Amino acid sequence: MSAHEKVNILMVDDQPAKLLSYEAILSELGENLIKASSGREALEHLLKIDVAVVLMDVSMPDLDGFELAEIIRQHPRFQKTAIIFISAVHLTDLDRLKGYQRGAVDYLSVPVVPELLRAKVSIFAELHRKTWQLEMLNRELRRLSSSLIVTQDEERRRIARELHDGLGQELAAIKMIMDGILQQRQPPELKDRAAAEINALIDRAIQQVRSMSHLLHPPLLDEIGLYSALQWYLEGLSKRSGIETSMDIQPADFPRLQPDLETAIFRIIQEALTNVFRHSGAAKAWVTVEKTEMHVSLSVRDDGKGISEHISQFQIGSIGVGIAGMRQRVKELGGDMRMRNSRPGTAVEIVIPIPVSSRSALSNVAQSAPQNA
Ligand SMILES: Nc1ncnc2c1ncn2[C@@H]1O[C@H](COP(=O)(O)OP(=O)(O)OP(=O)(O)O)[C@@H](O)[C@H]1O
Ligand SMILES: [Mg+2]
Repeated sequence: MSAHEKVNILMVDDQPAKLLSYEAILSELGENLIKASSGREALEHLLKIDVAVVLMDVSMPDLDGFELAEIIRQHPRFQKTAIIFISAVHLTDLDRLKGYQRGAVDYLSVPVVPELLRAKVSIFAELHRKTWQLEMLNRELRRLSSSLIVTQDEERRRIARELHDGLGQELAAIKMIMDGILQQRQPPELKDRAAAEINALIDRAIQQVRSMSHLLHPPLLDEIGLYSALQWYLEGLSKRSGIETSMDIQPADFPRLQPDLETAIFRIIQEALTNVFRHSGAAKAWVTVEKTEMHVSLSVRDDGKGISEHISQFQIGSIGVGIAGMRQRVKELGGDMRMRNSRPGTAVEIVIPIPVSSRSALSNVAQSAPQNA
């Protein structure tokens, strides 16, 4: 159900004329109106469809409104369904109490005031829509948090493997050569060769530590900002993947932004490019970053196979933690994200407003152009 999707309103009355008049009153709400002329027929509808509001006559021949409400309330699925009683006879407070105890949420007496009926029904219809949306969001949140845990686990496993198979092996080799040097009386030329080997192994180990720690958190980001960090990342990606990348960043003397904004932009572009690498089959990718007084606009475009409509509409079940995480970051920063087919390929486009507090204060601190990224 989307924010504008219709909800079902069930009207129960044994008199067809009354059903017609409720229908006339409620038709302008634009919801689905369903008529039932008896309690049993109402139950049949309730079991088949999701009903937001039940509007029912208190006195009906076979099953009166109070009895019907009691049956409805006993079913766990209908515990929160709104029930509005309409009563032609004057109700005492005791009658009302009886109704409330059976799950009524409101009463209207005949003659029904059209505006009042419309207002009450529309409030409960809206409440139902909101509850449903909240439930969907909660479900999505649960799904995301469990896949986040899986992603974290995978990441840890990857780091552990990298430490063990990469760095661990280099260090073990160094230890072995060192043991050899210490235990045996070796001729100086062999010792020299062993030292050179150790030196090369240590270089490789340093390189590994550096690239691992850079991937976990790019130090360039803190030191000289987004431009250099992005350039460093794009170069690495091109080398690893063979995808040709280019970046256009405006203005050329790109200013420093708030640290959390810089990190968010870096992570968003990193995720979008990881998707290009993993899913697009592209040969080229273009990144643009443009800052104006009020906004930062980003785009990551590729010439790959493009995306389905489900993904461009961010439909639950089609997108993974990657896109959901990007959207979440953008949303937290008050921005907007779109994904579309750029024929060929995919374009991810994002606009993030610059916080008012940092608009003029930070824009003076120009970021120095990188010498060697
Ligand atoms: N640039 C792209 N080109 C083609 N398909 C894409 C592109 N970006 C995303 N997709 C599609 O969108 C889907 C969802 O992407 P998302 O990043 O949310 O999840 P994922 O990459 O599958 O997994 P992860 O949660 O690990 O990121 C991908 O599985 C892929 O089918
Ligand atoms: Mg992804």
